[in-house]
Amino acid sequence: MNRTHTNGELRLSDAGKTVTLLGWVAKRRNFGSLVFIDLRDRTGITQLVFDETISEKIKDVRNEYIIEVTGEVSERKDKNPKLSTGDIEVKVTSVEIINSAATTPIIVADETDALEDTRLKYRYLDLRRPVMQKKLMMRHKITHSMREYLDSKDFIEIETPMLGRSTPEGARDYLVPSRVHPGSFYALPQSPQLYKQLLMVSGFERYYQFARCFRDEDLRADRQTDFTQVDLETSFLSDVEIQTMMEEMLQKLMKDVKGMDIEIPFARLTWEDAMNRYGSDKPDNRFGMELQEITDIFTNCGFKVFTDCIANNGSIKAIVVPEKASMTRKEIDKVTELAKKNGAKGLVTLKYMNNELSGSIVKFLSEEEIAKLVERLSLKENDLICIVSDKWKTTCDVLGALRNHFGAELGWKKKDEFSFLWVTDFPMFEYSEEDERWYAMHHPFTRPKDEDMQYIDTDPGKVHAIAYDIVLNGYELGGGSLRIYDGAMQDKMFEVLGFTEEKIQQNFGWFVDALKYGTPPHGGLAFGLDRIAMILSESDSIRDVIAFPKNANAKCPMSDAPTAVDEAQLEELHISIKD
Ligand code: AMO
Repeated sequence: MNRTHTNGELRLSDAGKTVTLLGWVAKRRNFGSLVFIDLRDRTGITQLVFDETISEKIKDVRNEYIIEVTGEVSERKDKNPKLSTGDIEVKVTSVEIINSAATTPIIVADETDALEDTRLKYRYLDLRRPVMQKKLMMRHKITHSMREYLDSKDFIEIETPMLGRSTPEGARDYLVPSRVHPGSFYALPQSPQLYKQLLMVSGFERYYQFARCFRDEDLRADRQTDFTQVDLETSFLSDVEIQTMMEEMLQKLMKDVKGMDIEIPFARLTWEDAMNRYGSDKPDNRFGMELQEITDIFTNCGFKVFTDCIANNGSIKAIVVPEKASMTRKEIDKVTELAKKNGAKGLVTLKYMNNELSGSIVKFLSEEEIAKLVERLSLKENDLICIVSDKWKTTCDVLGALRNHFGAELGWKKKDEFSFLWVTDFPMFEYSEEDERWYAMHHPFTRPKDEDMQYIDTDPGKVHAIAYDIVLNGYELGGGSLRIYDGAMQDKMFEVLGFTEEKIQQNFGWFVDALKYGTPPHGGLAFGLDRIAMILSESDSIRDVIAFPKNANAKCPMSDAPTAVDEAQLEELHISIKD
């Protein structure tokens, strides 16, 4: 090919030059004897003009044909300020049709009304849309910037296996049957957690990997079956030293990718503060509307739901939503539904209008209680007050969900605003009423705080972990911790999680064994690369920044994976399918 320039490159200063361009026909317009074509490649669009001496040669050329043209750059009369090449056009003197194209099932342009499954079925065409190309190119910039930083800090990139061992305690595994070992399965990695710890045992000190991870979870807008972590681990550093490095990496990233200067260190919140103030362990702090503690106001009130809650050591909190006192009954019912979906038994709403509080529970409250509430919540005209009384965690969760709902509705979640923060001091364990056992909140390799070890046998709920999450705009961007580096403590952890000695040996013996051969204190973190790319490219779904994602139903509409396989393949794997 004789290409001299790309389609995003030519400017007025190039006028008079003879150039050769290549690309896809994005648009064709016929004006009498003149034909205009917008020629597209991944860098942009250039307008081509074909006069009557040459237009015959392109009479059959339609959208998405690939052509090569040679011509002279000239100043455009009707300039297009929206295009980087909008000041010029190329007057074509020769053209070659490189390839034809059938009519595409989706329009290859930024604006599309195609359903997502259609876009995913023809993903190669969807990815030809400039808007999608920009997203994937931004993703490349992100990985490049992070690699540069990690390299400058002497991190070593090491790959770990895709076919590993299934271990309990995480999400559901994707299993791969072994042909050579009948009845045995590999598991695809949920993360390289244990391998990266073993690399610290080996003495590599600073490791990173752009690691593909696999989790068989229900999918959401920010979750995929297979996703990518920027996974890293270090030896001999404190949690704050690790966090400081990560802040520097993100500061550089924001400059490289968005041209923005962000301040470090980031804000820090303990898990408990995050829950109390935002009702979430991944608070969106682009806006306020914090949860307010009001339990004490109702100690002796006449509303039994509140007094029962207090008697059961529960918590009563409120959020104040401005300008929403005029919500209709129907609208309030919808919000109540949302509260119930998040675990509330009910939702109390009050309105503050004409300096007066109204709502179904007002009749149960004394003048003094009402006055206290108005003062505590600093109520203003037209405020809507949402109150939840339940167990502390439920109260926080429900109001956190409502806060997010109203934050979005009030237009406070601005996509071009980026607010990072650390959440620290997570509880080591959380109790599942359903399974009647403790689970590790991060993972079982996280180091507990020394000062809390006294509660490990008697009250595991009181033990905090040296674990930290990094949050951006209400998304958990990454999480990490310092790790346990002695075998006895690691065994203790498994014991609290309800493992017998035999089960520990069986599942984790290979790992715990390594800890006895001189393991350095170590810790690390993993970022969700897809989530970073989603937020920085201001996309609504993680699927927009993954070249070939699965749909919400864990299917690939393009290849139709997963599919049934031949009987012979199953036989080779010693597998038979139950009806
Ligand atoms: P964790 O499980 O918190 O930690 O995962 C780290 C980050 O990976 C991203 N992530 C996902 N992204 C897309 N789809 C998913 N299904 C998905 N699941 C997780 C999130 C999350 O913050 N080994 C530990 C890290 C460590 O301790 O070093 C781990 O995997 O952004």
